[in-house]
Amino acid sequence: MSAFIAELTRKDYRLTPAQVPPTVVETLDPAEEAELIARIKRLLVKQDATLVAHYYTSAELQELAEATGGYVSDSLDMARFGTESRSSTLVVAGVRFMGETAKILNPEKRVLMPDLNADCSLDLGCPADEFTAFCDQHPDRTVVVYANTSAAVKARSDWVATSGIALELVRYLADRGEKLIWAPDRHLGAYVQHETGVDMLLWNGACVVHEAFKADGLKQLRAEHPDARVLVHPESPLDIIAQADLVGSTTALVKAVRELPAKKFIVATDNGLFHKMKQAAPDKILLEAPIVGKGATCVSCAHCPWMAMNGLRNLARVLEYGDNEITIDEAIRKRAALPIRRLLGFAKQRQRVVLGNNDA
Ligand code: 13P
Ligand code: SF4
Repeated sequence: MSAFIAELTRKDYRLTPAQVPPTVVETLDPAEEAELIARIKRLLVKQDATLVAHYYTSAELQELAEATGGYVSDSLDMARFGTESRSSTLVVAGVRFMGETAKILNPEKRVLMPDLNADCSLDLGCPADEFTAFCDQHPDRTVVVYANTSAAVKARSDWVATSGIALELVRYLADRGEKLIWAPDRHLGAYVQHETGVDMLLWNGACVVHEAFKADGLKQLRAEHPDARVLVHPESPLDIIAQADLVGSTTALVKAVRELPAKKFIVATDNGLFHKMKQAAPDKILLEAPIVGKGATCVSCAHCPWMAMNGLRNLARVLEYGDNEITIDEAIRKRAALPIRRLLGFAKQRQRVVLGNNDA
């Protein structure tokens, strides 16, 4: 690891607790749930639609996506799946940048979301006009933005990255002699900088869910469960990452629970991921990493308030009425498609290299 300290934007773009909506999880009685599921299944066929859900959405949505030929995954893989789907409509259960990415890559498809207010604190903390001005001040730097950004921010970038490929991509760019701007997640940026030593200017944004994990609490929980392995999503602060046995994207964390020999795991990410982890390894014990000190109250309580806006009721409604469609200005869409396609091409090429190495 390098001693280089990444430089942050002077302005703090992290949201205050007052800017974060409460996390409201949909509750349904069994009869209503069964009726909604049956109706959604009929509507998906009628509308020639495929449901693509993120791991942080509810167990019901994830199961419905998988039962109807749709898909559940991380943000990179959701984008890839969307491009391969033959349906004329994609329904994206996740947050807005995921719906926008689907539309950017599939302009001929109709892209719907259960709730267009399903935002993301990283996206909200990176306004396109301020970001553009910042980039303009550093014309010598390659601009890498996390997938969790608006179409307009992606349109100002050279590369889009996701947590699953950030380290590899930054190393590749540094090998070409490039200095970087990284936005908007300061924690993921600091982690990547720490691991690679690359010269990076960091935007000062954060995820409200992952930033809330507490190092002292985690230390104590580890002491109480010395047999547990610690799994951390890299949107968490460095003092949480420093305690991890494994740092990775949502997909990498699920894989770790399935494949590592340990029986018990402490997990620092949105607790929506526990559903997929339990499916992948039903006999393993999962503990949530602590989010607040004793006696304090949490803001998101380890579940993204915007992901929680996706439910069966609004999914049925959007399929019925076709509202909540994602639309993007065509010039922005075309420009934003370039760095996303670059990412997908890079990911595909790297996979081939990995497979090639394994085959050899
Ligand atoms: P992944 O890219 O790992 O799915 O993460 C997206 C996200 O929003 C995590 O908070
Ligand atoms: Fe954004 Fe954090 Fe929610 Fe992921 S968990 S969508 S990064 S606010």
